[in-house]
Amino acid sequence: MSADVRAAIVGLGSYVPQKVLTNQDLERMVDTSDEWITQRTGIKERRVVSEADSTASMGTEAGRRACAAAGVDPADLDLIICATITPETLCPGSACYIQRDLGAAPAAAFDLAAACSGFLYGLAVAARFIESGQFKNCLVVGSETLTRFTDWTDRSSCILFGDGAGAAVLQPTRDPNRGFQYCVMHADGSGWDYIWIPAGGARMPASTETIERRMHFLKMRGRDVYKFAIEKMQWLLADCMAACDLTPDAVDLVVPHQVNIRIIKSATRKLNFPLEKVYVNIDKRGNTSAASIPIALDEAARAGRIGPGSTVLLIAFGAGLTWSGAVVRL
Ligand SMILES: CC(C)(COP(=O)(O)OP(=O)(O)OC[C@H]1O[C@@H](n2cnc3c(N)ncnc32)[C@H](O)[C@@H]1OP(=O)(O)O)[C@@H](O)C(=O)NCCC(=O)NCCS
Repeated sequence: MSADVRAAIVGLGSYVPQKVLTNQDLERMVDTSDEWITQRTGIKERRVVSEADSTASMGTEAGRRACAAAGVDPADLDLIICATITPETLCPGSACYIQRDLGAAPAAAFDLAAACSGFLYGLAVAARFIESGQFKNCLVVGSETLTRFTDWTDRSSCILFGDGAGAAVLQPTRDPNRGFQYCVMHADGSGWDYIWIPAGGARMPASTETIERRMHFLKMRGRDVYKFAIEKMQWLLADCMAACDLTPDAVDLVVPHQVNIRIIKSATRKLNFPLEKVYVNIDKRGNTSAASIPIALDEAARAGRIGPGSTVLLIAFGAGLTWSGAVVRL
């Protein structure tokens, strides 16, 4: 292991399906209103897959775009990690389909299930492989087809989620001013039932009864998740800044998990962190779990809000419970 090698993000890409589901569309599906959803979450619309798209197809396209941005031929990838809680199939992992469709064999490929923290967990794992000298070209994908696991009769959860994928290519750098400066990862499994999908796994295999009881859909304790998210968003922002001795002036952009505008505003207000330096696209994308941060990162880069030399804080929290943060210099 070479202590002076860091992992750097050298290419970003994302893909969202074309179909838009607006709050007005939801008004026709459940007892809700555009006003309630906007006030409570900040979401106005979200993207939803059509028949043609799925976790692997969206992940492949995001991965292809990230490789193109990095100038890396997918055939030269050493590792593909797909962060997802809505996998293409339970077996094999989504990363294997993505590897096949990118023409990246025999790159190592596996899935990582850490929900909304999954992309940051994936970045951390890939970074360690790069720092150890084992791999040079790593692709980390966050891809989710949450709307296929959404209970469209449950107004408290169906308003939140959207589909999409984002990806980043990581490579080694010896430049101390580039790459991962800090990363933190935690989990607390005692909160397993805050957000979960009860059936379809080994504990409760699929049966007529599980389908009738709608147990294959995501269940959520909304208010408990809200409290957890507020606390963790604030803690992660403070922790990342303290760990790298950063003031808000020295941060170019915070890219948080797009969970709820009230959660983002509350955490930044409590820490006196300027909201203008926080990337928000929840109004257009909803919550896309593991895809949320890489989609936002890619959009921020394409909009010119970040570029080479930018210091970016990434902050995520979600089912598990899991939470993770990173400080990255592009
Ligand atoms: C889900 C969430 C938006 C609900 O907002 P909230 O302010 O906590 O609202 P509550 O759950 O307290 O519900 C308030 C009322 O609105 C109602 N309500 C719930 N969903 C509604 C909807 N879509 N439209 C209208 N009313 C709704 C509730 O039934 C409740 O009515 P009651 O007071 O008569 O019982 C919020 O808790 C949240 O964002 N939680 C985090 C969820 C999340 O992001 N999960 C993924 C994490 S990674």
